[in-house]
Amino acid sequence: MSELVPRSRIVVVDDQAAHLKALCDILGQHHLDAAGFPTGETALAHLRGHACDLLLTDMNMPGMDGLALIEAARTLDPAIACIIMTGAGTVDTAVKAMKIGAFDYIIKPFKASTLLPVLTRALESRRLRLHNLQLEAALRERVDELGRLNQVLDAARREAERTNEEKSAFLSNMSHELRTPLNSILGFAQILASDRFPKGEGERQRFSQNIVSSGKHLLSLVNEILDLSKIEAGKVSLVLGPVMLDEVLREVVAIVAPLAERRLVALMTPADCRLELCADRMRLKQILVNLFSNAIKYNHVHGSVTVHCAVGPGYGSVAVSDSGVGLDPAQLETIFLPFGRAGRDEEGEEGTGLGLTITKRLVEAMRGRISVESKPGEGSTFRVELPLYSAAAAPSGARGATQHVG
Ligand SMILES: Nc1ncnc2c1ncn2[C@@H]1O[C@H](COP(=O)(O)OP(=O)(O)O)[C@@H](O)[C@H]1O
Ligand SMILES: [Mg+2]
Repeated sequence: MSELVPRSRIVVVDDQAAHLKALCDILGQHHLDAAGFPTGETALAHLRGHACDLLLTDMNMPGMDGLALIEAARTLDPAIACIIMTGAGTVDTAVKAMKIGAFDYIIKPFKASTLLPVLTRALESRRLRLHNLQLEAALRERVDELGRLNQVLDAARREAERTNEEKSAFLSNMSHELRTPLNSILGFAQILASDRFPKGEGERQRFSQNIVSSGKHLLSLVNEILDLSKIEAGKVSLVLGPVMLDEVLREVVAIVAPLAERRLVALMTPADCRLELCADRMRLKQILVNLFSNAIKYNHVHGSVTVHCAVGPGYGSVAVSDSGVGLDPAQLETIFLPFGRAGRDEEGEEGTGLGLTITKRLVEAMRGRISVESKPGEGSTFRVELPLYSAAAAPSGARGATQHVG
């Protein structure tokens, strides 16, 4: 049998002053925290401002009666334990009280020895009820948490599926791309080796040339595929440090100048591009060589390539603009995807379709962004934004800090 919990807060309501005092005294003797009120209204006013465990109320009182008080008290605290005191012969009202949520009733007059076990049971029931409410709240929290976790899992699953699909598409595109030059090499080599080959010098040279150029194409495909898979596997170490953009631009121009001369494309770089970026020098050069070669390759004879530099809040940008063929919105959707060539295969322009994929991965690995604006027939501008060295949140000794890309 449970004991009365000391300091339980009890509100006692009775319009008979002597009865009220006697009850409060008894409860006080049992170390309960009793507050007595002569009317339903005053008791309710107290309940509005004070938390309470149990309400012990008389049934018949002038003004607000016991039933109305219990109803009002339970709207304030649905877990409050209520006991109604009623005269003999009014048991039906007591039953009514039970229906609206009273825990028990006690018939007047009663002795302390009758009251105390009722109080004990009522307080125990309140304790269990509160415990139940706490468990329900904890359960609801767990259910919410599970719901949230499920959403995270779902998103991770979708992401894994997407990556998987991307990988499958990459593999099937890669086999196709590798097979094309390989078939061409084998085909021409077989003709050269065959007895029925006409052996004319011109033919032999043409076929050998085809083998050489297919071989070169195959080699650049393999090299770029290896580079991309190294980047994607997180096996590329970037050495992030201060890089002067104008120095890198000069070196890049020297590399691409022969291609520009062959295609009769003019290269125009700004005289002053003294930005100190936070980048990996070698990889920044690779990025710019990719953008310059594209701007020259997908250009017109006597076209031009212009470079602009700018500074924004915390970053520097370099934009490579060309007066070339340009790209429509549908083509722009595909050019950063592996092997995306926007239909240039048919036009016979050499390329692997991997340059921009690698470029984008590298720019993002250096905490930068790449964007493109283009108009078919007018030309394109590829813009790379990278953190300025002064603004990069440089960890101590960031000069030469190594970061793995993945
Ligand atoms: N400056 C540019 N002007 C027009 N088209 C471009 C330009 N740069 C890239 N592209 C288009 O994007 C495609 C992908 O470029 P990239 O990944 O460098 O591969 P690749 O040059 O080997 O084809 C190119 O095939 C071309 O169609
Ligand atoms: Mg390219």
